[in-house]
Amino acid sequence: MQHFDVLIVGAGHAGVALVGQLAKSGYDGSVGILDGQDCRPYERPPLSKGYMLGEVRDEDLLLRREDYWSKGNARLVTGTTVTRVDPGARTVTTDSGEEIGYTHLVWATGASARVLSMPGADAENVLSVRTLEDARRLRTLAADARRAVLIGGGYIGLETAATLAELGKQVTVVELQERLLARVAGTTIAEHLRRVHEDHGVRVLLGTGVSELGTTDGVVTSVTLTDGQTLPTDVLIVGIGVEPLVAPLVAAGATTGNGVLVDARCRTSLPNVYAIGDIAAQPNEFAGGAVVRLESVPNTTEQARLVAADLSGAEPSRRGVPWFWSNQYGVRLQTAGILTGFDHEVPRHQGDGPLVVGYFKDGRLIAADCVDAPRDFSMVKALLAAGGAVTAEEFADTSAPLGTLVKRSRAAVS
Ligand code: NAI
Repeated sequence: MQHFDVLIVGAGHAGVALVGQLAKSGYDGSVGILDGQDCRPYERPPLSKGYMLGEVRDEDLLLRREDYWSKGNARLVTGTTVTRVDPGARTVTTDSGEEIGYTHLVWATGASARVLSMPGADAENVLSVRTLEDARRLRTLAADARRAVLIGGGYIGLETAATLAELGKQVTVVELQERLLARVAGTTIAEHLRRVHEDHGVRVLLGTGVSELGTTDGVVTSVTLTDGQTLPTDVLIVGIGVEPLVAPLVAAGATTGNGVLVDARCRTSLPNVYAIGDIAAQPNEFAGGAVVRLESVPNTTEQARLVAADLSGAEPSRRGVPWFWSNQYGVRLQTAGILTGFDHEVPRHQGDGPLVVGYFKDGRLIAADCVDAPRDFSMVKALLAAGGAVTAEEFADTSAPLGTLVKRSRAAVS
C-alpha cells in the first residue's frame, strides 16, 4: 500500500497552495496530492473572463509548470477520486478501489456548482462555469449562440454575463433576490454594477426565478420565469452557488455544518485530518469570531499557510484580512473584510469615478468594497488589520486620506 506523510485530496487552489507552503516551510516528509479531474491543476478565476475571451490560453491557466510536478516535493496523481476515508486505519480508498495510507490527511476538494432541479436542466446547452471542462463547453456553445440567459446574479452570473456581452451576445441575468450580489456585497455596489451591466446592454431581471425550461430536441430554447415571462435562449448558464464536496468526510464522522467545521489551525474533528478552502467552515476574527466558510482564492493561501505551519511544528502567524475580487468589463471590484451582519453601509466616494463603500457593525468598520480604487482598497485592508476603529463620519469624509485613519488606528492598538 502506498503511504504519504501528508496526503492532500484536491489539487485546486487550496491543495496546490499547501504543496508550495510545505516546500517553503522546509517540510521533508512525503507529500501526495490527488485530484479527480484528469488534467494539470489550473487557475479558476480566468475561466469566466479572459479564458472565454481568448485572452488567456490553456497553458496560461496552469497553477504550476510541468517541471514543478516532475521535480518538486509532491507526487501529483490526477483522474483519481477519493470515495472513502477511514480515520481509524488512516487510509483513503479511491474510485479504483486502491487504498492509500496517510499520517496526515488534508481535505481540499472544493465545491461543485449547484444545479437547477427541473426537467430540461440536463440539456446539452445548460451549464455552470466551475471547471475547465465547463469553460471549454461554454466557449464552444457561445461561438454559435446569439442569446444567453444566466440564472443567478452572483459573481459567476455577472462575470460570465459581462464576458458574453463583450462577445456581442444578447444577455439576460435572472436573479431571485431583489438585488445583485446579495451574498457578497452591499446595496450601493449591487446597484452600481446593475447600472454598469445595463449600460453594456445586459437585461437584469431581479426578484424572479425560473419556473420552467422549454426544450426542443434535447436543447433548451426558452426559459419561463416565475413572473410569467418567457425568454428565448440559445444557451443557459446556471450560477446559483456551490455545494461543498465533503461526503466522504461526513461519512467518516467529521463535524459539519455549512461545510466541514475546522479550528483555527484548520483541524477537523477527525484525528489528523485537516480541511482547507471552499469547504472549511472556520471561526474568523474578521467576522467577530463567527464560523464562516469563505469561497475565495486568497482564503486558500491563508489556510494552506496555517496547515503548513501546524505540520511543521511552527506557530501560525496571524491571519490576514480576508479579501475578494471580481472583474466585469474591466471594472475592478475589490472587497476587504467579511461583510455579513453589517448594520449600515457608508459610501466614501459619490458620483462618477472610483467608488468605496464601508460596512459598519456596532460603530466599527468590518469590511469595504472598492470599485476601481486599488489604493483605497490597500488602505482599507490596513485599516481592518489595525482593528477598524473609525467612525462612519470619519470614513465618509474624503478630505481626510484613509492613510491618516490607518496610522491613528495602528497607534491606538500598539
Ligand atoms: P453566489 O452564491 O455568489 O451567487 C449565486 C446567486 O444566485 C445568488 O445571488 C442567489 O440569490 C442566486 N440564486 C440562487 N438560486 C437562484 C435561482 N433559482 N434563480 C435565480 N437566482 C438564484 O454563487 P456563484 O455566482 O454561482 O459563484 C459560485 C462560486 O464561485 C462562489 O464560490 C464564488 O465565490 C466563486 N466565484 C468567485 C469569483 C470571484 O471571486 N471573483 C468569480 C466567480 C466565481
